[in-house]
Amino acid sequence: MENFVFLNPTKLIFGKGQIEQLKTEIPFYGNKILVIYGGGSIKRNGLYDQVMNILDEIGVEVFELSGVEPNPRLSTVHRGVDICRKEQIDFLLAVGGGSVIDCTKAIAAGAKYDGDPWDFITKKTTVSEALPIGTVLTLAATGSEMNSGSVITNWETKEKYGWGSPAVFPKFSILDPTYTMTVPRDQTVYGIVDMMSHVFEQYFHHVGNTPLQDRMCEAILTTVMEAAPKLVNDLHNYELRETVLYCGTIALMGLLQMGLRGDWATHNIEHAVSAVYDIPHGGGLAILFPNWMKHVLDTNVDRFKQLAIRVFHVDPTGKSDRDIALEGIEKLREFWSSIGAPSRLADYGIGDEQLELMADKAMAFGEFGRFKTLNREDVLSILRASL
Ligand code: NZQ
Ligand code: ZN
Repeated sequence: MENFVFLNPTKLIFGKGQIEQLKTEIPFYGNKILVIYGGGSIKRNGLYDQVMNILDEIGVEVFELSGVEPNPRLSTVHRGVDICRKEQIDFLLAVGGGSVIDCTKAIAAGAKYDGDPWDFITKKTTVSEALPIGTVLTLAATGSEMNSGSVITNWETKEKYGWGSPAVFPKFSILDPTYTMTVPRDQTVYGIVDMMSHVFEQYFHHVGNTPLQDRMCEAILTTVMEAAPKLVNDLHNYELRETVLYCGTIALMGLLQMGLRGDWATHNIEHAVSAVYDIPHGGGLAILFPNWMKHVLDTNVDRFKQLAIRVFHVDPTGKSDRDIALEGIEKLREFWSSIGAPSRLADYGIGDEQLELMADKAMAFGEFGRFKTLNREDVLSILRASL
């Protein structure tokens, strides 16, 4: 293992009825609360009313920012920062999926930054302070509820980048599986693909002696793969929602990367694809990941072989290591297809017209990927295989 320091300060409040905890958490942070949410799902499923009733009951002053887009945009971050400055907001409450939470993190940091938030999103500067935030999560996918990352899109320049700072860890996150029951089938699948992809990003490394990390990764993958086929046919099943919600958080809150550093190349390429085409993050990952795997396989066949045998139950008898590894990758593709994930860019009507542009976007900060460093030709090759 590599040396590491682990700190995750987010208080995780998990389970049915835990929304009541807002009553004790919120007053601690002040009186002027900005509630941030998306395009209306929380109004349709009653969560909005529940949150507002509680805030009313504890007597805080409430402001609202609605309409945060999936793949949240810089223009919405600007709107939020303006509200924070004008109204002297004390605390931000994100109620929604990863997009709402990511947007809230950028607003929280932007409110304390004397300049355009795009500066820290593009890493021209780092964030050292932010307004405190809390979250009520409604979609199992990104892990943003318990990590310090955020991904923002500049729609004008068609750029989408991840950034992060310890200053934007949520102070608390409320995870009630009930609120994820209304997530439609396609978004449920995208979330499942996303959390599995987070595990893959951290599984593929060359650091030796990570037996526990490996098995934690494999446990999450196995658990998700057991629950997912049942869940997509039984969207209102509380236990399955509970399992998947917990997996999504554990997959990207720092636990799996203790003692190692993950690859994250596929995420970088996906962000370039969705910057240009605004497709769902999980959909893009489902298309790209197996092709990244095939592209980098020979860097360390053993890692892929281990995954194939332990997670995809490939029978190794009489097969070469490489064939075992390839069979595992095929089984991943089959699994994602079986639950309804896309497998080609063509599934979103994307052809080869903008491949060069997507490759340019992916290369914005130079070569990337720790398992295998990718250059522009590598990216183009993975994109071509994904058409
Ligand atoms: O906007 P509303 O009306 O709320 O609808 C949303 C949205 O249309 C809907 N939804 C959410 N909860 C729902 C619901 N519909 C019905 N019932 C509910 N309970 O689902 C749609 C997608 O929501 P979104 O928040 O965009 O999904 P997700 O959580 O997958 O977030 C995706 C974003 O997170 C970024 C992605 O790049 C993408 O921009 N990521 C953030 C990461 C992080 N901060 O750590 C890591 C990830 O790898 C990822 O890159
Ligand atoms: Zn992701």
